[in-house]
Amino acid sequence: MTASATMTPLTARRGGALRGSARVPGDKSISHRALILGALAVGTTRISGLLEGEDVLNTAKAMRALGAKVERTGEGAYRVDGVGVGGFQEPKGVLDFGNSGTGCRLVMGAVAGCPITATFDGDASLRRRPMRRILDPVGLMGARVTSQADGGRLPVTLMGARDPMPIVYRTPVASAQIKSAVLLAGLCAPGTTIVIESEASRDHTELMLAHFGAELRSEPDGAHGRKITLAGQPELNPAAVAVPGDPSSAAFPMVAALVVPGSDIFLPDIMTNPLRTGLIHTLREMGAAITEEEVRCDGGEAMAGFRVRASDLIGVEVPPERAPSMIDEYPVLAVAAAFARGTTVMRGLKELRVKESDRLVATAEMLRVNGIAVEISGDDLIVHGGEGVTSRNGGGQSEGVSGRGGGRVDTHLDHRIAMSALVLGLASERAVSIDDAATIATSFPDFAGLMRGLGADIG
Ligand code: S3P
Repeated sequence: MTASATMTPLTARRGGALRGSARVPGDKSISHRALILGALAVGTTRISGLLEGEDVLNTAKAMRALGAKVERTGEGAYRVDGVGVGGFQEPKGVLDFGNSGTGCRLVMGAVAGCPITATFDGDASLRRRPMRRILDPVGLMGARVTSQADGGRLPVTLMGARDPMPIVYRTPVASAQIKSAVLLAGLCAPGTTIVIESEASRDHTELMLAHFGAELRSEPDGAHGRKITLAGQPELNPAAVAVPGDPSSAAFPMVAALVVPGSDIFLPDIMTNPLRTGLIHTLREMGAAITEEEVRCDGGEAMAGFRVRASDLIGVEVPPERAPSMIDEYPVLAVAAAFARGTTVMRGLKELRVKESDRLVATAEMLRVNGIAVEISGDDLIVHGGEGVTSRNGGGQSEGVSGRGGGRVDTHLDHRIAMSALVLGLASERAVSIDDAATIATSFPDFAGLMRGLGADIG
């Protein structure tokens, strides 16, 4: 996405209970990976349930520019004819990833192992984000940066390695994007590429590589870490991918149902990979009524339907080691915390500073302009929830929430700040507005429509 020339403000107001069932879009992480691995396989991969958000569509465009055939055959249905590992062609133009760090960083890894040169760019938000975390390891593998903006920022021109070398790489931060970039570059290297992470991050790349026939081993390393060993130069076989619902998108209706009194909703087919469910774990510790139904497994990823009912939440302390399993969910957890009795302390959020916005500051600002007491202490976020929602769920007068809302939130080109702010507005005494809703289309194009279908007053 390029920064929208015209802003699209949007407002959420408190209304009746949220009711009914809603299907959230496909998982963003899996959608990117399905397109990239489909493009690196020899033959035809069919994908269903692909997230048709701007971030993923930019990855599809990049795969086309690199020589794969990517064809839309129906709603969320795609056919990808791959070029094989190492088979990318040099793209004619700049690869524009819009707002997407994941698309950009994973494709940098995939390009780094091929003897081609490509220029990577993105919107104002992506141009501010650090790329050295990818350029450093792929440099060790033989790729060369021929041009870059200050400090390894986009636009970056990368010359892939003619003879990529396998490496053993210990990631400096728990990041699935870094891990995935090294593994994707490692596909082109002879011998074994090893990535060691001290905190396990989402493992969709590993699961999908195995699904496409790569030889890969993942084993525990230390208390919370993992060591992933990939055999280089495999032939990837095309494999069907059914993309499950995105837990990071489900987080928004889920928290909305918890904090809007009387709500009772159902969200089918949400991915339940344990490296993504930190938010659900935390919300349950806070007293949330979230139950799993229709548990099943499809294409290596587990999924379930979630029933969510309005709940009296209490503040909790969220430990730093849980961050990788809920890294995208802190803004909306902060909204839940604003309606919980007592204080919620979220520890170890340094990585939030380099997301689509400085999400630590943007989350605190979102709450502050809506009258909620919040502090940042080092890398911790502390939200004072006050009296909780007990009286409201009993149908009485609101106590702890009086005076909340009424703010206009600056979303800083960050879709998750935008959606979190709207969820906040659904349960606050006064309406909450956002400056620009356009960025929501990067991950959850029909967010407002889906929420309205559940009864939310967003307009
Ligand atoms: C993602 C990894 C995470 C996450 C992002 C998606 C992925 O980023 O925040 O939304 O699909 O690999 P980091 O790897 O920077 O933690």
